[in-house]
Formats: sequence, structure tokens, C-alpha cells
Amino acid sequence: MQAQAMTLSDRADALEERMMHELEHIVTKSVLFNLADGKVEIEGGAALMAKNPGKYMLMGADPRLPQMPEKPTLIDYFKCRFASTAHLLQSATHALKAGHDEKVVLACLLHDIAVVSFIRCDHGYWGAQMIEPYVDEEVSWSVRAHQALRFFPDESVGYTYPDMYVKYFGPDYQPEPYIVDEYRRARNHRHYMTARLITVNDIYSFDPNAKVNLDDFVDIIGRHFKQPKEGLGLDSSPSAHMWRTMLWPTRFL
Ligand SMILES: [Fe+2]
Ligand SMILES: [Fe+2]
Repeated sequence: MQAQAMTLSDRADALEERMMHELEHIVTKSVLFNLADGKVEIEGGAALMAKNPGKYMLMGADPRLPQMPEKPTLIDYFKCRFASTAHLLQSATHALKAGHDEKVVLACLLHDIAVVSFIRCDHGYWGAQMIEPYVDEEVSWSVRAHQALRFFPDESVGYTYPDMYVKYFGPDYQPEPYIVDEYRRARNHRHYMTARLITVNDIYSFDPNAKVNLDDFVDIIGRHFKQPKEGLGLDSSPSAHMWRTMLWPTRFL
């Protein structure tokens, strides 16, 4: 009878707890993962060791996640770490069909990688930082700027404030001052139009029937994304640690 009294979230916690015990190593959640559950909590090393006698902390790949190759490429992250790629592929396909420059297509393909792999909040900033060492400045600058630009219309290219945002955020939503400032700065930047084209090609309504394929972009990635020979995340770029965090999100340290 006790099982019936458990709430869905209790059951999920119990399942997670059981799975943790079935794993060979102790898998830990970082504070950020707990914050997302509404808890400002961290489980200390000593408590974890006491709960899992005879086990060591996980210091590498999480066996519950798809296995990544020894030297991962951007494509491997698309396949094994991005929770959804349809939106990215649709935006990039849209840009490709419109005949835009390859850098614009790449910017569309990567504009929301932070959303699908890392974190939603300030995703343009996170995404830009992740790719900055590997792409032309035009691409990373544009990914960063799309965070702000998507809230502001530009009639010269037929971009209006998305109806979806009214639906999602309510009619009274106003972007924060840092977004307004970013927009003003971006307006006069030499790469403004590349960032603007991200918003123009951003597909706000998901079409389940659209045919998209990552293979269509392998060559563009090859030409414009500098794949580190050690593997993406295993190199020493200023953002390699962010890719490593996706590679090993539950490492103890
Ligand atoms: Fe976005
Ligand atoms: Fe988007």
C-alpha cells in the first residue's frame, strides 16, 4: 500500500536511487541539476561513500548515456548529446534553401545548441562561448546576438516579434535591460545582418513532416568548424571544459 501512496516524483527519486546503486560507480548530481528540481542542495562526498559501500566515485563516462567515441567531433555531439536536433536542422535547411552564405547556414545550425544540450537560460551566450574557439567570429558573434535580436522586429527583412513568444511569455513580457542594451549594441555591429538572419531563419513552429538531415551539413561543418585533433572537449581551447561537461556530466570532479 505504501507504494501507492508514493507520488510520481517520489517514485522517480526511488528509481534513480536504485539505478545509482546498480551502477558500478557513484553517480552524482551537480548543484545545477538540483536547482532545476527546486532544491539548493549538494550531496557531500562522505555521505555518498557511506551510502554506496565498496564503490568509487564516477570519474569518467556515465554508462547510462550514449557512448561517445574517444575523439568526439561536433557531429558526435549532435548524435549523442543533443536532445533534439530538428529545430537546428530545420533552421539551417531554411537558410541553405534561401541561398545564404555558408557562415549564415552554420550559425543557424548552431544557434540553439545550448538549448538542446546544456541550458536554456541565456542560451545564446552559452552557445556562442562553446563554439567561439572553433568558428569564425562572425558565427559566434551572431549566435550570441540572436539571444537579444529575436525579441526585436526588423521590418527591412520582414522579421516581426514571434507570435509564439506572446503565447509562451504572455502579452506583457518585456526583455530585461541587459537584453535591450545588447540589442542596441548589436544593431550597429558589422555582423548585425548575420545575427538577424538567424532570427529570420529561426523556425518558430515545428513542422513534424519537414525532411531534414544532418548529412546535408557535414561539408559545411567540415569547412567552417575547426575540429580539434584531440577530440572536441579533449583539447585545450577556452571552452573545451564546456564540451567535456557534456561528455561527462556526472563526473564527481
Ligand atoms: Fe535561440
Ligand atoms: Fe531557435
